[in-house]
Amino acid sequence: MFKYSFDNKNYYTLNNYLTNKFNTRVFKVSLNIGLSCPNFKNGGCIFCKNGSGEFAGKPTDSLKKQFDMVKNMLNNKWPDTKYIAYFQANTNTYAPIKVLKKAFEEILTFKDVVGINIGTRPDAISDECLQYLKDLSKRTFLTIELGLQSMHDKTLKLINRGHDLKCFDECVKRLKDNNINVVAHIINGLPYETHDMMLNTVKHLNKLKIDGIKIHMLHVLRDTQLEKLYEKEKFHILTKKEYIKIVCDQIEELNDNIVIHRLTGDGKKEDLIEPLWTLKKVSVLNDIDKELKRRETYQGFNKSILNKLQQIYNKFVKPGDIVVDATCGNGNDTLYLCRLAKKVFAIDIQKNAINNTKKLLDSNNITNYELINNSHEYMNDYLYDYTGKISLITFNLGFLPGGDKSIMTNYKSTLNAIKKGLNLLNKKGIILVTCYPHKEGKKESKEIINYLDCNSIKYSIYKNTDNTEAPFLIEIKK
Ligand SMILES: C[S@@+](CC[C@H](N)C(=O)[O-])C[C@H]1O[C@@H](n2cnc3c(N)ncnc32)[C@H](O)[C@@H]1O
Repeated sequence: MFKYSFDNKNYYTLNNYLTNKFNTRVFKVSLNIGLSCPNFKNGGCIFCKNGSGEFAGKPTDSLKKQFDMVKNMLNNKWPDTKYIAYFQANTNTYAPIKVLKKAFEEILTFKDVVGINIGTRPDAISDECLQYLKDLSKRTFLTIELGLQSMHDKTLKLINRGHDLKCFDECVKRLKDNNINVVAHIINGLPYETHDMMLNTVKHLNKLKIDGIKIHMLHVLRDTQLEKLYEKEKFHILTKKEYIKIVCDQIEELNDNIVIHRLTGDGKKEDLIEPLWTLKKVSVLNDIDKELKRRETYQGFNKSILNKLQQIYNKFVKPGDIVVDATCGNGNDTLYLCRLAKKVFAIDIQKNAINNTKKLLDSNNITNYELINNSHEYMNDYLYDYTGKISLITFNLGFLPGGDKSIMTNYKSTLNAIKKGLNLLNKKGIILVTCYPHKEGKKESKEIINYLDCNSIKYSIYKNTDNTEAPFLIEIKK
């Protein structure tokens, strides 16, 4: 279950974030102050038509008129609504500071405006502008929305973005150094990008301390350079299924404190050439929800292998099961398992760990457990009567977190315990081993895998990252 889930989503929605922050409904009003884009003089981004602000107001109308038009519509239905002024069309920091100040200061005088979102480019925030934004952010809830689209310079060149990754990274740093909220905008399905390239864009953003993200599918719009490229080269357009997969993979990868502002884009029907499935926005969002529910994953799932471990516990352990935590430590896994199973035997070689586990279980009013203070290689002596009756045995290798680091599991006793454990399992039983990459840990996992291979015992390995120095999980089948 995702920890920020208040709207039954497995990711951190903007709705959730704003409702918590302002304690009421908050609505974004798109406004247009008729600015241009610095990239137009270089031909503009190849996918762009009219500066991507289709749903903003008319620049010929005053700000007041644009704002009131939306507010009057909503106010009757929801009188308590607060508003965020969203400067969306083109590049909203690309103007003399005088012009920017006039618009942003005016908007702050409107009743019920609690924040300002400024859509812009990373190459269009001057030092003078940054100083002003810093001041503005102390007076209102300010968010700067920056287009990145892709972390790959090759793609940025192809789409004639007009800046590179370095420029984006530096801009985010300048904004964050001044405590200004940043939302990054990325596009999936850019020409010739692979699944891994799109995933890497999200992994890169995780490192930048951004506050929010907008994920879009690439739209091929009429009368754009992208349309010409598409006609000429017929590059692959993601199917809906492929898009759902990549978005869910990106959500699993994304830090869980990053607010997701969007997972699909709006496009004008009459301009859209491909892909037409994006017109059914609700169905795309529903399918993303369904896929995350099917996977039983959520935002940030890949951050820890322990999430995968708990997912397996959830799927595998049934209320009538008897299970063993062979390294109970501070008792976290034991507690989790006690809530799923009929009974849990919790083993640890350290008295300290046994005491910690007891404390944790008692404070949670858990009673369906038995503690065994010994090395797990002797588990048979205690569990002989349960031979063939155990559903799951879990080993979380290494040392006691917060305890004596010199006492840790070692390959000889771990291997002995696994052999004993295999005898205790019922026909469908499994053993889960969480392995760590320190020196003894590496030896342990190597020896375990070697033993399983030599004895033709079925097993699977789960990794949540391609980092070879990260913990991973071995699932051993009876
Ligand atoms: C990584 S910790 C387990 C953390 C635990 N799952 C939790 O939720 O806190 C590993 C534990 O294995 C225990 N241990 C080390 N060698 C052992 C052995 N031969 N038999 C049983 N426990 C052992 C350590 O005392 C330590 O508490």
